Amino acid sequence: MRQSCLVPPDSFTQMWGDLAAIGRDARTGGYHRPGWSVAEQDCVRWFGAQARARDLRLNEDGNGNRVAWWGEPTDGGVVTGSHLDSVPDGGAFDGPLGVVSALAAVDRMRVAGVRPVRPVGVAVFVEEEGSRFGKPCLGSRLLTGALGAAEAAALRDGDGYALPDTMAAAGVEPDLGPSDLLRSPAAFVELHVEQGRALVHADAPVGVASAIWPHGRWRFDFTGRADHAGTTAMSDRCDPMLTCAMTVLAANKQARLVDARATVGRLDVTPGGTNAIASRVRAWLDARAPDDATLHQLVDAVAHQAGARAERDGTSLAVEIESLTARVDFPVALRDRLVALLAGVPVLATGAGHDAGVLAAAGVPAAMLFVRNPTGVSHAPGEYAEPADCEAGVQALTAVLTDLASRP
Ligand code: GLV
Ligand code: MN
Ligand code: MN
Repeated sequence: MRQSCLVPPDSFTQMWGDLAAIGRDARTGGYHRPGWSVAEQDCVRWFGAQARARDLRLNEDGNGNRVAWWGEPTDGGVVTGSHLDSVPDGGAFDGPLGVVSALAAVDRMRVAGVRPVRPVGVAVFVEEEGSRFGKPCLGSRLLTGALGAAEAAALRDGDGYALPDTMAAAGVEPDLGPSDLLRSPAAFVELHVEQGRALVHADAPVGVASAIWPHGRWRFDFTGRADHAGTTAMSDRCDPMLTCAMTVLAANKQARLVDARATVGRLDVTPGGTNAIASRVRAWLDARAPDDATLHQLVDAVAHQAGARAERDGTSLAVEIESLTARVDFPVALRDRLVALLAGVPVLATGAGHDAGVLAAAGVPAAMLFVRNPTGVSHAPGEYAEPADCEAGVQALTAVLTDLASRP
């Protein structure tokens, strides 16, 4: 396989610099790269150019996922990668660190003269954050069949655009559904910035994932009666904002009681006038817990309290589940192989969802590497990893891919 002279020796730094300005809000320093947006598509085009510069074969499926292959794509390959979309005003590292590290690892393997006996693929999954269509890991769920094509085709973004129309407008011919893009890999390894501080406490730059907590998104629609903010007596109101406010507090309290997580980070208020009582408040609950039973108890308790409060407020409540992901335990054999290769690095569970988790749930031997995040901040502009830790991550991924791709 030919080396490309177009790839600079310090490819990580070069690639990181290429992406730095794409979709960045100069005011906050955060990134806006929802799936199929101009910014995300610029990142995807950048990925295509990186593949071409390395003579990697770029394949894509009808869901918008992509893989750049080193070697002829066949079953039993080794695939790595992550995503290039972001949450609103997200950090630079969540997703891109895994893609850039993957390409850098391929460069280093080539420079080291590694001759893989299996093809090595670098994957970019589309709409991992679900910040546009509400379903996290949309691309990998479609690819594995965890999400049906008909359900996906009916998804609409916040402006009412359907997923297939959005894809077509971005130049992606939609052909939603299971795809063979990854070619039944022998292993998939996703490198990701840590989204907590476990590696800070362990004093280690790199760790290996054990599990992903079960998590989901629920939409709460509180409906009341619009009226005048100045003339409506407090006792005459049916104010859905009150019911919503109490529900946000209940979610926080219930999560604390069972050592879980519950967040309302998004509200939609109708009609949204400062001097009017709202007619409807839509709130999205993101909930996560160490096990499936705790997660369901938590959400049931919040919904029950919201319903009871709605009766007192004279409002009504409808709860819709938008996505649910069961707990994923990564395959122990692959996890332990990574730990042994990396000289006993820490093993940690995470409350964040990942495409690697969706693949593991579908039976793909999948694993994850985490890179230390000094503050633990993520999904926010302050997300960070030190250059030395990013370097440790690339070295770890290079060692892992070399091992996995060299053994028959
Ligand atoms: C993805 O990052 C998620 O867990 O929300
Ligand atoms: Mn991510
Ligand atoms: Mn994320």
